[in-house]
Amino acid sequence: MHTDAGVFGRSEELSARRHEQVMFCEDDKTGLKAIIAIHSTTLGPALGGTRFYPYADEFAALQDVLRLSWGMTYKAAAAGVNLGGGKAVIIGDPAVHKTPDLLAAYARFVETLGGRYITAGDVGTNTDDLDLIGQHTRYVTGRSRAAGGSGDSARLTALGVFHSMRAGAESVWGTASLANRTVGVEGVGKVGRELIELLLADGAEVCVTDVDEAALQRVSADHPSVRLLSTVATAPVDVYAPCALGGTLTASSAEAIEAKLVCGAANNQLATPEIEFALNERGITWVPDFVANAGGLIQVEGELRQATPEAVEDDVRGIFDRCREIIASARAEGIGTGAAANRFAERRLDAIPRSI
Ligand code: NAI
Repeated sequence: MHTDAGVFGRSEELSARRHEQVMFCEDDKTGLKAIIAIHSTTLGPALGGTRFYPYADEFAALQDVLRLSWGMTYKAAAAGVNLGGGKAVIIGDPAVHKTPDLLAAYARFVETLGGRYITAGDVGTNTDDLDLIGQHTRYVTGRSRAAGGSGDSARLTALGVFHSMRAGAESVWGTASLANRTVGVEGVGKVGRELIELLLADGAEVCVTDVDEAALQRVSADHPSVRLLSTVATAPVDVYAPCALGGTLTASSAEAIEAKLVCGAANNQLATPEIEFALNERGITWVPDFVANAGGLIQVEGELRQATPEAVEDDVRGIFDRCREIIASARAEGIGTGAAANRFAERRLDAIPRSI
């Protein structure tokens, strides 16, 4: 950390990734301490969720918001939507510090940005919080249907993962279908459960794992044919679908994975960027997480445009073509699919001459 380097050079993230705007928000009355980072508005207003998290210190919060807002620029660009990248963090324990007054104060800060930043849900914030935030700012998505939003995004996130998996299957086995393939779903929460439905309808054999016994029992009750395993990452499956936490693709799991295709909803699946090369060397195709899991982002972008549910669903299905293109260009250029996805995003960003 360069404490004598002024504001712009203060953090490596700031100087290396060149954010357009970073706003520090403090409200004495409610105890609010928040940072809103706008990485880029090149493609449109910067959209990204509000993370409410008990960061060890302010610098950790700053690093997180800068990294996440940068990631949102790439995610939106790769998703083909006209949105920029932004993110916000509220410092504190949501179980202790999240009060309606604090969220209202935060929302008023969002409103002052006049739409350059549009917020959404993330770790520590939920639909109820977004409904409340929406009472104080126009620039919010992901609200409940009752409050005029498009509701939970798990279904369309799962739909996007399913079509990404179809594109991956086509590149590995020549057929864009999961019929007769064994798919191991890790994490049967909101997205995992929806994904199971789509996979079974396509004729896949599904096995699952979860740390929550109740979640597993629910899957068994709904789908008796689904097998419950203690792990799926290294099980003899054709496809490994990480839909729980990120970071499950590690040096050791990359060595042990038997699947030929990895495609799931979890964010930041690679423990380190080099893991991609380890997967490549073993002939395993990885569909980049930020491309596969963009269904929720496409949904909120549709909510902003007031697109019909049918049109939004069509857009989510379009993830198939993007994955196909990204995988093909990775093969043609001899690079990883993650690098190919970044290039895909950068092509869209570079095509726009203006910056802000
Ligand atoms: P969720 O919280 O509803 O479900 C996650 C499930 O994973 C839970 O059932 C949990 O018990 C299980 N789990 C936790 N640790 C585990 C472990 N070590 N092994 C196996 N299972 C474990 O979350 P949701 O909404 O289904 O999201 C899943 C993933 O997709 C998350 O990483 C999330 O960040 C990502 N994602 C979700 C989107 C959405 O629209 N919900 C959009 C984009 C990404």
